Amino acid sequence: LDNGLLRTPPMGWLAWERFRCNTNCKEDPKNCISERLFLEMADRLAQDGWRDLGYIYLNMDDCWIGGRDASGRLVPDPKRFPHGIAFLADYAHSLGLKLGIYGDMGNLTCMGYPGTTLDKVVLDAQTFADWKVDMLKLDGCFSTPEERAEGYPKMAAALNATGRPIAYSCSWPAYEGGLPPRVNYSLLAEICNLWRNYDDIQDSWGSVLSILDWFVEHQNILQPVAGPGHWNDPDMLLIGNFGLSLDQAQAQMALWTVLAAPLFMSTDLRTITPQNMDILQNPLIIRINQDRLGIQGRRIRKEKSHIEVFVKPLSNEASAIVFFSRRTDMPYRYHTSLARLNFSKSLTYEAQDVYTGDVISGLRVDTFFTVVINPSGVVMWYLYPIKNLEISQP
Ligand code: DGJ
Repeated sequence: LDNGLLRTPPMGWLAWERFRCNTNCKEDPKNCISERLFLEMADRLAQDGWRDLGYIYLNMDDCWIGGRDASGRLVPDPKRFPHGIAFLADYAHSLGLKLGIYGDMGNLTCMGYPGTTLDKVVLDAQTFADWKVDMLKLDGCFSTPEERAEGYPKMAAALNATGRPIAYSCSWPAYEGGLPPRVNYSLLAEICNLWRNYDDIQDSWGSVLSILDWFVEHQNILQPVAGPGHWNDPDMLLIGNFGLSLDQAQAQMALWTVLAAPLFMSTDLRTITPQNMDILQNPLIIRINQDRLGIQGRRIRKEKSHIEVFVKPLSNEASAIVFFSRRTDMPYRYHTSLARLNFSKSLTYEAQDVYTGDVISGLRVDTFFTVVINPSGVVMWYLYPIKNLEISQP
């Protein structure tokens, strides 16, 4: 969507995967979906280095809605959001953050709260803009394909008509099977800033793999439709939760980064460990994800050894390379060369290992090298050409 927003993939925090529809504030006041949760996450984003690295979106998900008032406007649950959403947006803005909200194109949200039916699209867009919300995730439960086909473009127009820049995340394709001909990706790129293509992520490595597999299987369709202002969204980062080992956490971060995916954390920033923070706050990975060209990477090799290689082209003739192991035995010594990874220019390259910081220099396309990849782990390189120091003749 050409609204000037999200020229690089959005980064931030999104409540759903970790905090779900926990509305039990009586017994679980720290973790229930309430303004307290969002205020505390806002503080963490601002104070613990996240915001300054680019994680600026503080995004709500399902289960915030209390109902509609006499004029039909959405209102938050009064017990859990006693100060209202405008208050939360102001608080986020005071810290240099942006607030994202959630709605559903249909009769009800997936968890059964009031949805945005076709007759409510314009009113809800205006309500979100009045509250100074900065992003909308529009889910697609409890609607027909026809209603979605009308409603998603209608919301794009309604948001635009408010005059407030509001990034627009569409769950539409995920409700239509994610593939053409039912999904029209050129239309999506015109009306949405990002879109969920496929299943919800769950807190397990199996879930990460199933999402990755689907994105790779359909990369010829999905890769070309991503770019500045319009992104595929393989769903939230699980890093910091319960289902991934540290190697798997590094792998999700690396793979999502080369896929030019939105980086939405969904974890408890109040209790995250330093090791998980290091993965999410790796400055070089973030630079790669945020590269201005916004090219989604592709899987370029799938070896019999169960090693896979992904490459994302970057600005200044640089590239990100992810060596990914699907093995389940022990660290694997993968021998290859840049030529085998489809690099053909007669340049000399240097690579920086994104996680260890090691620098590998003097790489020409035919130089053989070895990377050691842990089971369900990655080695990730930032690869860039070294300009020859030639003495220029006058
Ligand atoms: C389905 C979406 O795909 C999830 O990300 C989440 O928003 C839930 N609905 C909320 O009910």
